[in-house]
Order: sequence, then structure tokens, then C-alpha cells
Amino acid sequence: MAASASLKATSSFGIKFAVFCPKQSFGQPNRLTCSFSTFNKKNGGGGGNVGGKNQKAKSRKKSCVIAASSKAVADELLREKLKRRTRSEKEFDIDRVIQYGDVGSHVPVMLGEVLEVFLQSAHFAGLRSFVDCTVGAAGHSVAIIESHPELKMYVGMDVDPAAHERARTRIKAVLNDVSSTRSSDLRTYTVLKNFRFIKPVLAELDDECLAAGVDGILMDLGMSSMQVDNAQRGFSVIGDGPLDMRMDPQASLKAEDILNSWPHTEVGRILRDYGEESNWHSLQKKIVKARESGGLHTTSELVDLIRGSTARAKGGRQGWIKTATRVFQALRIAVNDEFKALEDALHACFDCLSPGGRLAVISFHSLEDRIVKQTFLNVISKNREENQLTLEAGVREGRNRKNPGGEKEAWVKQMVQGQHGAILTKRPITPTEEEEEVNRRSRSAKLRVIQKL
Ligand SMILES: C[S@@+](CC[C@H](N)C(=O)[O-])C[C@H]1O[C@@H](n2cnc3c(N)ncnc32)[C@H](O)[C@@H]1O
Repeated sequence: MAASASLKATSSFGIKFAVFCPKQSFGQPNRLTCSFSTFNKKNGGGGGNVGGKNQKAKSRKKSCVIAASSKAVADELLREKLKRRTRSEKEFDIDRVIQYGDVGSHVPVMLGEVLEVFLQSAHFAGLRSFVDCTVGAAGHSVAIIESHPELKMYVGMDVDPAAHERARTRIKAVLNDVSSTRSSDLRTYTVLKNFRFIKPVLAELDDECLAAGVDGILMDLGMSSMQVDNAQRGFSVIGDGPLDMRMDPQASLKAEDILNSWPHTEVGRILRDYGEESNWHSLQKKIVKARESGGLHTTSELVDLIRGSTARAKGGRQGWIKTATRVFQALRIAVNDEFKALEDALHACFDCLSPGGRLAVISFHSLEDRIVKQTFLNVISKNREENQLTLEAGVREGRNRKNPGGEKEAWVKQMVQGQHGAILTKRPITPTEEEEEVNRRSRSAKLRVIQKL
């Protein structure tokens, strides 16, 4: 009951987002045309008026045209964005999310969709081995373990000791639960390691499994709510804490090291490339200037600097919060070397798959998603020339919804077939509107899936 109340409370934010939903935006151009002609009539249709009145009308007309054209551009961008992804058609099962979520710490994103990817089918004979590269609070993992009584080996990896401990406790509880539907001879391992080391980890745990290949691998990228909600970790724009941002507390680099001692051009590059922050240059100058008075050491000092640098015209409170979110994200990516770790790990995960095995990746950042998309293309075709051919072949095969085993799966809409594997999601799958309403964090989620031949 408590869990349900907590999820519903989150939804009040989500509903705000739903107002900005695509369907409503599509209606906008008509409404704009209508209000624009009403405006014209009221002002004499553009003729007849003289002096100040005429001047005022002209300027109002001009701003109306600008608003109309920027709305049209925004609508067009949204339409383009929607074309590039597929909204999930899976019914959102809130009870299952509550069952497997660790409400108060973390709610698993796109749980139903992830379970569907690894569902037993004529082609996908069964999940004998599974690696969760980002076990977090183990929401996805526990659901997978309980849905696959055929599972013989499970490995959960995380670089964060707090997440690792939480996951270990939850998985142990499933193993001790006599009513659990898990396999009776399941071997489970939880490993405190960066996912870029998946190969050596598997080699050490079970080299036979590595030789045969893993049937399913999941990466649910980014941070867990447990990490964001702990101000002492330094990930959150709200709440005060040290400028840390390390997912692995044993790592040496902290956010404050970058802000207070890295070359100013590097600071700017991080804000521009990882945060996609348009105001990066001015922020870079202010961050470097702050070094003269002792530097930045707490999240609230950094937030104050950002707030002071964000023009009121750029959306007031919303403006600086968005800028701060982008800056924090940029620093987190740099501190944890997230993009390089992801690219290395995607190659390593593909190598670890069994023939027919699947790798599912949920990303939350457009640059992260681009890395997943490009690396998937590279691994199924292995080199650039092949890659181009694969893309063309993929476009031709766009309407073929059969998986490499010749079977149709409802969630597979368009595929890209390569020499070494198939991308089962030519366009990424995004959460249902219901999930976006209930769990705001899911709004930017994109799921991509690849299958080894
Ligand atoms: C979004 S959470 C995963 C939540 C999980 N799927 C669940 O249902 O509870 C992402 C987790 O990945 C971990 N993580 C991030 N980068 C990692 C990396 N390079 N290697 C291993 N774990 C990583 C984080 O510490 C975090 O616990």
C-alpha cells in the first residue's frame, strides 16, 4: 500500500509532462492559424490603422509570427524525434513494478519490455545464463530470476558498493524464499566491478560459461535513485553535499578535481560535449575564476554559480535548474568515464554472448544512446564498409519483423541484419505514456536490443 502511494505521488510530476505529449502538440498548427486570423481581423486585417496604434499592432503581429514559426519548428522537431523511436505497446503493469521495484530506493524502468526481450520463445529456447551489468537495487534481476526457472547461472555486477550490497541482500532473499519460482540449482554471483571488465569477471567465475556464451545481458545505464537521493554522493542538484560524483568510491577522480584543477579548455569541453550546454563558455570562465577564491567544493556552491550565470530571460527558475542538471550530468559522465566504459563494455558484452544470445541496453542520455546505436552497428558488421551495406540492407528489411530464427515477436518492429548479428530495434523503444506518468525518471529512457547470430 505504501509503495503504491509513493508511486502515485511521483505521478503528479509526470502528469505535467503528459501535457506536453506528442498527440496534443500535433493539434497545435490549426489552433495557431485560427488565433492568427482572429488577431488580423481585430486589427483591421493589416490595413487602415495609423501612428502608434498601427506600430503596436505591427509589433504584436511580428511577435505572433515569431511565436507561430517557433512553435511550428518545435512541432516539426518533435515529429522528427518521434519518427526516430517506437513507443512501447506493452501494457504498463504497475503491480509488477511495485512487486520488483525497491520503492524508496529504485523503481526499475521498462521492466515489462525487458522481460519480453528475454521471454522464452521457439527461437530463444531458454535463458540458461544471464548477466545484469548494472544490478543497482536488483529490480530487473529479481524479476528475471523469478521469470526463468530454467536459469542456471546469474551474475549481477555494479561498481557501487551500496548498490552491490543492496542487490546481494535482495537476491539472497529470493534464493531463501521457498515460494520463489526460481530454478533450484541456480548459481548466483554478485560482483563489485565495472561492467567494462565483464570478460575477466566471467572467466574467473565460470570459464565454461564464457566459452559457451551468455544467453542474456542487460545494461540499465546511469544512476539509481539510491545514488541521486543521497546528497553525500554529490549527484543531486537539490540538497547540499561534497562535489564527489564517483559511482565507485575507490576511484581517485572527483568532480571537484575537474572543477578546481583541470585545464580550463577541458572544463569547457566537458560542459559542451557531455552536457550539451550552450552557455558552456561563460560557465567555464566563472568556474576557472572561482579558483582565485579557493575553488568549488560543495554542490550548493556550484549550483549558486550556475544560478548566477543563467540569464533570467532563459526561463527563470526552470532555466537555471535545467542548466544545473546538464552541468551535473556532464561532470558525472567525466568523473566516471562513462562513454568510454560504455563503448568498451558493449564490444565485450557482444563477445560474451552465446549464439542467439541477446544484449538489451537502456540509456537515458542522447549521447549515450548514440554510442549504443553506433556500436551495435559496428559489432553486427565489424567494419565500416560492411556497416554501410548493413544499413542499406536494414532499410530494405525494415518491414521484416521476424527475428533471426524466422519467428515473429510482437515487440520487434524493424530490424537491421548484419553478418554477425541483428539489431532487433532499428528504432529505440521508449516507455509507455503510463510509465512516463508514474515514473518521471523513465521519460528519457531508450531501449535497444541486439542479438548475436
Ligand atoms: C539505473 S541503475 C540500475 C537499476 C537496476 N536495473 C534496478 O532495477 O534496480 C544503474 C546502476 O548501474 C551502476 N553502474 C553505472 N555505471 C557502471 C559501470 N560502469 N559498471 C558497473 N555498474 C555501473 C550504478 O552504480 C547503478 O547502481
